[in-house]
Amino acid sequence: MGTGLLILLQIYLLFVSFSSSALGLQKFHIVDVHALTSRNVCSGSKDVERHRSVKSRLKIVDRHGPCSTLPAVEKLSLEQILSKDQSRVESIHRRTSAVSGKDKTSGPLTTSQITAQYGGSYGVGNYIVSVGIGTPSKTLTLVFDTGSDVTWVQCEPCQKHCYMQQEPIFDPSQSSTFSNVSCNSTQCTDISFGCSGSSCLYGVKYGDGSFTVGYYAEDTLTLTPDVIQNFRFGCGQNNSGTFGEIAGLLGLSPSSESFVSQTSEKYQHVFAYCLPALSSSTGYLNFGSSSNMPNTNRTPIHKQSNPLYYYINMTGLAVADQPLQITATVFSNSGMIIDSGTVITRLPPDAYQALRSSFRQHMTQYKMAPSTTLLDTCYDFTGYDNVTIPSVSVQFLNNVSLDLDPNGIFYVFDISQVCLAFAGNRDPGDLGIYGNVQQRTFNVIYDVPNGEIGFSPEAC
Ligand SMILES: *[C@@H]1O[C@H](CO)[C@@H](O)[C@H](O)[C@H]1NC(C)=O
Ligand SMILES: *[C@@H]1O[C@H](CO)[C@@H](O)[C@H](O)[C@H]1NC(C)=O
Ligand SMILES: *[C@@H]1O[C@H](CO)[C@@H](O)[C@H](O)[C@H]1NC(C)=O
Ligand SMILES: *[C@@H]1O[C@H](CO)[C@@H](O)[C@H](O)[C@H]1NC(C)=O
Ligand SMILES: *[C@@H]1O[C@H](CO)[C@@H](O)[C@H](O)[C@H]1NC(C)=O
Ligand SMILES: *[C@@H]1O[C@H](CO)[C@@H](O)[C@H](O)[C@H]1NC(C)=O
Repeated sequence: MGTGLLILLQIYLLFVSFSSSALGLQKFHIVDVHALTSRNVCSGSKDVERHRSVKSRLKIVDRHGPCSTLPAVEKLSLEQILSKDQSRVESIHRRTSAVSGKDKTSGPLTTSQITAQYGGSYGVGNYIVSVGIGTPSKTLTLVFDTGSDVTWVQCEPCQKHCYMQQEPIFDPSQSSTFSNVSCNSTQCTDISFGCSGSSCLYGVKYGDGSFTVGYYAEDTLTLTPDVIQNFRFGCGQNNSGTFGEIAGLLGLSPSSESFVSQTSEKYQHVFAYCLPALSSSTGYLNFGSSSNMPNTNRTPIHKQSNPLYYYINMTGLAVADQPLQITATVFSNSGMIIDSGTVITRLPPDAYQALRSSFRQHMTQYKMAPSTTLLDTCYDFTGYDNVTIPSVSVQFLNNVSLDLDPNGIFYVFDISQVCLAFAGNRDPGDLGIYGNVQQRTFNVIYDVPNGEIGFSPEAC
C-alpha cells in the first residue's frame, strides 16, 4: 500500500472516530445480515425462563412462518401479505373517516338470509394463537386482532358455506355447554345485527371482501389453565375469504363484546403480547395483571368516540438519535392507533417524507434495490455479513421513546431487497397506524383501566 493511501486511510479513520465521538449523538446498529431473515425451521421462543410464572400464556406464531402448522399452500408470499395489508388499512380509514364512526349499512334481516353488514378490518399478516372451545374442549387456532370486536369460529353444520380449515370445524352439538345467545339480551343488542326468529345474528365483512355470518352463541373458552364460562362468539354458518385454514378470530378491541371486555372480571381489561423478531420464532399473548413488567414506558390511550381501536399519540421520530423536524400538528391532525393486525406502520405523509429522507441519507453506502408498491426505500445487502444501519426511534406522548429492534425497522423480502418498513398515508388527515413490524420484540401491554399502552424492549 502506498504511503499516500495510508495517510488518507488514517485521516479517514480519524474522521470517523472524530465524527462519532465529538458529536456523540449518532446511534447505529451493526446488524448481522443473516439475523434479518427467517430460518426455514422454527426456533421456538427466547423468553421461556423470564415468564415461567405467568399463567394463561398463549404462544404466538406468525401464520405464514415455519412455526405455523398451516399447510404451505395456504401461506401467502410477502407481496401478497402487503397487498392484503393495504386492504386492511383502507378499510380502517373508511371506518374511521365515516361520519357515524361505523359504516354499517343497515337493512332488514329476513329469516332465510343472514347478511354481513359490518366493515371489519381483517388482514392476513396476522399472528395466531390456539384456544379451547366447548366441553369437552376442542383446540382451535385463531388469528388475534386488536382491531376486531366479535370473536368467531366456523361452526357446524355450516348451513351455507365453510372454507377449508386445518382443525375439525367446531360442532356445537358435541359440546355440553353450548347455548345460543338470546335475542332479547343486551349482548345481542350490543352487536346490533338483529334476530332471525329466536336466533341472535352476527356478521362481519372485511375490507378485502372476506366475510363471516352466523348466529351469536356462547360456550366455555379455555386458555389453559383458565376457563371462561359463557363466552360469547359468532358461530359462523356462511364463511368465505382469505382466512387460510384458520378456524376463526379472537377479537381484542376495546369495544363491549370483544374478548377483552367479556373477560374483564377475570383479567381486568389487561393483556400483553410480544411479537417475535422473525417468523421463525414464537412470541406470547398474556391476559391479566401478570402481564405487567418493570421498566415499562407507558403512553396514554386517547379516548375516542369510536371504541373499536386503541388510539395513542405519536409525537416524533428520530433517526440515528437525531430528532426529525416534524411539526407537532402533523401527528395530532391525523391521530394514530396501535394495531396488531396491520403489518407496516402508516405515517402522515410529511412524517414519512422526513423519515425516508433522513434514513436514506444514513444509508448512502448501500446499493438501493427496487421499490414495491407500498415500500419505496429498499436496499440490496447481497455480499455483506454485517451492515451498519442508523437507529430508528419513535416517540409517543408522555416522553415514551422506543428504539426499534433492527427487525422492527425492515421488511425483508430477501437479502437483496430489504425495505424500510414504514409507509406514508395518502392524505394528511388519514389515521396513522402503528403496525406489527415495529412492535416486534417489545412486550406491548394494553392496560385499559389505567388508560395506558406500555412498551418494554427485548421481551421475546
Ligand atoms: C353468504 O353471505 C354472503 C355475504 O353476506 C352473501 O352474499 C351470500 O349470498 C351468502 N351465501 C349464502 C349461500 O347464503
Ligand atoms: C323476548 O322478546 C319477546 C318479544 O319481544 C318476548 O315475547 C319474550 O318473552 C322475550 N324473552 C325473554 C327471555 O325476555
Ligand atoms: C342455535 O340457533 C341456531 C340458529 O337458529 C339453531 O340452528 C341451533 O339449533 C340453535 N342451537 C341451540 C343449542 O339451541
Ligand atoms: C392526540 O391525538 C388526538 C387525535 O387522535 C388529538 O385530537 C389530540 O389532541 C392529541 N393529544 C395530544 C395531547 O396531542
Ligand atoms: C459481524 O458482527 C459480528 C458480531 O457483531 C462479529 O462477530 C463479526 O466479526 C462481524 N463480521 C464482520 C465481517 O465484520
Ligand atoms: C424524557 O426522557 C429522557 C430519557 O429517556 C430524559 O432524559 C428526560 O429527562 C425525560 N423528560 C421528561 C420531561 O420526563
